[in-house]
Amino acid sequence: MCGIVGYIGKNRAVPVLIDGLKRLEYRGYDSAGLAFFENSGLIIKKTKGKVRDLEELLKNSSYSGTAGIAHTRWATHGVPNRINAHPHTDCSGEITIVHNGIIENYSALKKYLENRGHVFKSDTDTEVIAHLIEENYSGSLFDTLPAALAEVEGTYGLAVISKKEPDRIFAARKGSPLLIGKGKDEFFIASDVAAILRYTNEIIYIEDDEIVELKRDGFSVKSTSNKKVSKKVQQISWNLDMIEKEGFPHFMLKEIFEQKTSLRNTLRGRLNHEEGTVRLDGLLEYTNQLKNSSRIIITACGTSWHSALIGEYLIEELAGIAVEVEYASEFRYRSPIINEGDIVFVISQSGETADTLGAMKEAKRKGAIVLGICNVVGSTIARESDAGVYIHAGPEIGVASTKAFTSQVLVLAMIALMLGRMKNLPLESGIKIAKALGEIPDLVERVLKKDKEIKEIALSLSKHSNALYLGRGYNFPVALEGALKLKEISYIHAEGYPAAEMKHGPIALIDKNMPVIVIATKDAVYEKIMSNIAEIKARNGSVISIVTRGDEKIKELSDGIFEVPETMTFLSPIVNVIPLQLLAYHVAMERGCDVDQPRNLAKSVTVE
Ligand code: G6P
Repeated sequence: MCGIVGYIGKNRAVPVLIDGLKRLEYRGYDSAGLAFFENSGLIIKKTKGKVRDLEELLKNSSYSGTAGIAHTRWATHGVPNRINAHPHTDCSGEITIVHNGIIENYSALKKYLENRGHVFKSDTDTEVIAHLIEENYSGSLFDTLPAALAEVEGTYGLAVISKKEPDRIFAARKGSPLLIGKGKDEFFIASDVAAILRYTNEIIYIEDDEIVELKRDGFSVKSTSNKKVSKKVQQISWNLDMIEKEGFPHFMLKEIFEQKTSLRNTLRGRLNHEEGTVRLDGLLEYTNQLKNSSRIIITACGTSWHSALIGEYLIEELAGIAVEVEYASEFRYRSPIINEGDIVFVISQSGETADTLGAMKEAKRKGAIVLGICNVVGSTIARESDAGVYIHAGPEIGVASTKAFTSQVLVLAMIALMLGRMKNLPLESGIKIAKALGEIPDLVERVLKKDKEIKEIALSLSKHSNALYLGRGYNFPVALEGALKLKEISYIHAEGYPAAEMKHGPIALIDKNMPVIVIATKDAVYEKIMSNIAEIKARNGSVISIVTRGDEKIKELSDGIFEVPETMTFLSPIVNVIPLQLLAYHVAMERGCDVDQPRNLAKSVTVE
């Protein structure tokens, strides 16, 4: 959360920084600011609101400075206002900093610095770092940063410029992503590759405890213990088209519709139809440990946690290995029992979620083998896990995760099939499942074609203030995900529940004002879910059901239905979640909500 971009080169810095911020805005968008060298001075501009407000502020200016840093904020310490917006400065106004992350000991540091005569202007934790640098300043920021940062507890990805050292950008990282982009006679610093992809795809990833100095003609990296670090330049394959809206009004809608292709990309080259299995090269090294493990732990947050729940059902059913799913934020703080050699899967679209990273570190510390399931190539989790699988969904910009979810579930289904085939799953079953996996993108495409029907359902749902989502078995996590999508972007209170569990509490809420969305496709618990629908109808609830095509029985019971094509039960979540994603989108549109930048949320939550 929060986004950083910095530029040093031959071109005017302001347009490059504004463009970078716009591409980072999905990470945080309550205030924005920038600082750049202009002639022999340093200019700082910042504002509450979105990047377009900052752009407006700079509209009639013609600054020609060619080096600067910028930030878009997701508030943690201090309300979103102009004063708390980054950049922040030291007392002299010369040392200027943008920061992602949280300084945990900021109030102790602030007290100490105030006693030393420093005067603070904002309520942020970030400002402490500017004063700390001032306090330790030795005439060189590159030399001062290790000493100043040694006193900081918490996480940071930061960039600093100073009037005292013009035409240089300094940066440092601990627990919050940062990378350098290398152009021709120009360099970039960014918290996310999306900010600079327009200019370069030559990337240098910065690791924890590294300090960077950027000049127009080169860069140096050293460790906080002052040892020179040599870095590799990596070529990344994502291009600008992949992060643009391509004619869709919102990233979220574009990403929902992209699922027919993103799922194909997830499968590409991995299915082995003859042997009824899949090939996941990233896991080859750990095949034996996986096969022989008696328990697998999966940890994640948010939507990724929902896919983990489906992974639990999949791996237990197809491979017969016990699976436990844990919220990453709980896992790391509750003394989990992990033995040397245990397998821990870590699922994260961004690969940067602070809670998930923390859980991963805890699992590693206890000797587990950590396997990542990530989307963002080169992300921290992807780099720091022992091995893993990329979901290859392509860049996901919309804050509400959609295509990453379906690709995660698809990868989990592939892992389950691979493990199942290494264990007791017969060849014929494997062949059938591999075929069904291959058909999933087509089924999703068919559902997407019926977007209009969902739009109509959305009209009535948008008038309510509460909704209940019910599902059973594989579709219980889909109910959770459907409810999460709705509340994230339309602000309608929604709860997901196992359908049968409804009678133990939520049934008390059912009346004519409580719309209930039931995932009721044909599977082993079909008859049971029919009874659950009858229970809702008996209490005047209104039911919208997601049903298998041609199902007349549930149609009769429900107030509205949406038909989806049939697939194997354990793959049905991928198909069934599509109408729920579309439903949330259209309801949010009806209510006039900012779909891509819902209030209070951020795409990648890099604070605990
Ligand atoms: C944030 C996002 C969610 C996402 C969650 C986990 O809360 O708003 O959409 O599911 O983080 O993110 P990850 O990148 O680790 O999958």
